[in-house]
Amino acid sequence: MPLFLSICCLVLISGFLYFFYLYPAAGLGPEQPISFSHRIHVGVKDIQCRFCHPNVGRSTFPGMPPVEKCLYCHRYVIPDHPEIRKEHQYFNSRTPIPWVKVNYLPEHVFFNHERHIKKEIECEACHGEVKTMDRLNKVTFRMGFCIECHREKKATLDCWLSCHN
Ligand code: HEC
Ligand code: HEC
Ligand code: HEC
Ligand code: HEC
Repeated sequence: MPLFLSICCLVLISGFLYFFYLYPAAGLGPEQPISFSHRIHVGVKDIQCRFCHPNVGRSTFPGMPPVEKCLYCHRYVIPDHPEIRKEHQYFNSRTPIPWVKVNYLPEHVFFNHERHIKKEIECEACHGEVKTMDRLNKVTFRMGFCIECHREKKATLDCWLSCHN
């Protein structure tokens, strides 16, 4: 009986650790000002991530595509779609589209894409199967997720020095 109980405890504790420590917390993200779909653009139309997020390997801010980039296609592609009309409104009033952020890191953690992209780690390793998502998931990265891969790839584990500022 005590053995059975301790096994139960172990299972519960590992489950708890998995969800609250290793597994990035995810759920459907907020509604966006224009209902943009990665599934359609990446999955169906096969547009490369870097066409829209060109600075991802070079800067701390991968960048959101400016409305001009959307209109590059949508001036011709379904220009009368109600969601595309909104693009014209943003363009005409020179207002950047107020995309709502969906990825979060705890505030004291330092993350830079550059080092990771140089090691040829796929976007999907951290962002999941974006190409299957209409609306992106809201993700809060947890340190266990970073550490697990760093251990596997023998990258720095000295996280209090390198990842925290
Ligand atoms: C390289 C070309 C290209 C670019 C750049 C592009 N799109 Fe699209 N988009 C498409 C194509 C192709 C479709 C599919 C049109 C169809 O259904 O016939 C589409 C569909 C859409 C739709 C309609 C989805 C639906 O539910 O039917 C929306 C909204 C949209 N795009 C928004 C955007 C926004 C916002 C941007 C800029 C961040 C953007 N697109 C950039 C090519 C592009
Ligand atoms: C046609 C343009 C386009 C392409 C191609 C594209 N994205 Fe995006 N991406 C956007 C837009 C617009 C947003 C903001 C709206 C949203 O969150 O859906 C966004 C948001 C994101 C975010 C969320 C950022 C945050 O924290 O708010 C991630 C992560 C992301 N894209 C990754 C990718 C990856 C990985 C690929 C390739 C597999 C990709 N994107 C391809 C236009 C694009
Ligand atoms: C090693 C993990 C990792 C990889 C690989 C990775 N990302 Fe990210 N990405 C993150 C984290 C963590 C954040 C949140 C950063 C923050 O909030 O400061 C993020 C944020 C983003 C954002 C939002 C940035 C913003 O300004 O809010 C975009 C867009 C993005 N990533 C695109 C990409 C694309 C495109 C690729 C592949 C070329 C990629 N990422 C590869 C971990 C990764
Ligand atoms: C899928 C694997 C993977 C994930 C997930 C990952 N990393 Fe990394 N990270 C690496 C690799 C590999 C390197 C080594 C790059 C090099 O040697 O240039 C690295 C390097 C770094 C560095 C640079 C270390 C230095 O010596 O300057 C920092 C900082 C960092 N990662 C932070 C993070 C944070 C924060 C997260 C979680 C949000 C994260 N990483 C998630 C694989 C990963």
